[in-house]
Amino acid sequence: MREDLTVRGTRDYYPEVYSRLGHIMDAWRRTALAYGFEEFDGPVIETLDLYRIKSGDEITGQLYHFTDKGGRELALRPELTPTVARMVAKILREAPKPIKWFSIPRCFRYEKPQKGRLREFFQFNVDIIGEEEGLSDVETMGVAIDSLLRLGLKEDDFVVKINNRDFVSVFFRDAGIGEKDERELYKIIDNAPKVPPEVTDERIGDLGIDGKQKQALDEYLGIKNIEDLERMKYSNPGKESLLAVFSHIQAAGFGPYCALDVTVVRGLDYYTGTVYEIFDKGERMRAICGGGRYNHLLREFGGLEVPACGFGMGDVVLGDILEKRGLLPEYEKKVDYFLVRISEDQLPVLLETARTLRKKGHTVEYAYRPTSVKKQMAKASKAGAASALIFGREEMEEKSVRVKDLRSGEEKTLPLADIFAE
Ligand code: HAM
Repeated sequence: MREDLTVRGTRDYYPEVYSRLGHIMDAWRRTALAYGFEEFDGPVIETLDLYRIKSGDEITGQLYHFTDKGGRELALRPELTPTVARMVAKILREAPKPIKWFSIPRCFRYEKPQKGRLREFFQFNVDIIGEEEGLSDVETMGVAIDSLLRLGLKEDDFVVKINNRDFVSVFFRDAGIGEKDERELYKIIDNAPKVPPEVTDERIGDLGIDGKQKQALDEYLGIKNIEDLERMKYSNPGKESLLAVFSHIQAAGFGPYCALDVTVVRGLDYYTGTVYEIFDKGERMRAICGGGRYNHLLREFGGLEVPACGFGMGDVVLGDILEKRGLLPEYEKKVDYFLVRISEDQLPVLLETARTLRKKGHTVEYAYRPTSVKKQMAKASKAGAASALIFGREEMEEKSVRVKDLRSGEEKTLPLADIFAE
């Protein structure tokens, strides 16, 4: 047999698989529309430079990139945020603010294919541009939470872990930890929940920070919830912003789905204030969703400093969770009418009926080749049709048709005009 020519980390969307993806996308789209977001898209290929500007090592190391025939260095999009920034920068001056956009792009990352991570995936993106930190961050979280609830997940299934990059960075700067160490520190903090405490201690030791700084770090990692943060005497604008965001979260009724988690710092370089990730509560899978505020990214493209925030939610981890919970609908092909002819004499009227019903929005099928009525009826059942319309000579003379309900088996003769009126 020929070798499998499927590209590693990609999926073949057979109809039953594609319908499940459609179910997820439908919930995403309906939720974003309910919040007043407008749908848009950008190109699948972008210049390599777009990602060099500010995505950070994690993304640029995973790029699918190539040189085209004109010698341009291009990349398949690994995420949508740089495209959003590039597109918005072009219309920023005239566009009414805030700009509220969503999209469901196909993205590509050269990652090691594993549970929850592939090389090609879909990612629901929701962004608000032109609004300062506060309610807008909570609105984007709301879209993420409500889309998961719409898909049937419950409070016990997932948690939105929230933090603030300004709070973290100013806290460490105030503790005397420099910018270079700070980046290393982010990586250590981000990894802290995934490794034993000794490993975190050892990594901190390797940073070469002094006793006082280590104490500050311990104090930081000791913040376990929003009450701990409230009690903390230390303050900076990022902390105040976090408290304000949590008070909006409570007021909006999202409290049961959200928690402060100071280990969330996010891998991408462009994040500034509020950051968050959504995880499932039971399976300990990779993040379902990640997002946050990126107040300086648009400046890189248009020279204007405009606040922005948003998130990306992939279909892979989410699809696995929904599958485990039995929340993905069974695939069902829907056919309203299967048209059956007794002989080829009835073909013209059958074709005309098919067109009329299809124009009215019904799904209609019929056998492409002349075959017995028995075989046509078998095809109708196999197609999952609700009814068969049987065209015979007698019926045609009377401009009527025999209708068989394929679920109940009930049969009756009806004027064709009645069928068209349905
Ligand atoms: P990200 O954390 O890189 O953020 O990705 C967000 C989500 O996309 C992840 O939580 C995951 O669900 C999905 N995802 C990422 N990589 C893969 C992969 N290889 N396979 C399957 N799913 C994946 C961003 O991309 C930001 N641009 C999100 C954002 C939008 N921030 C602001 N606006």
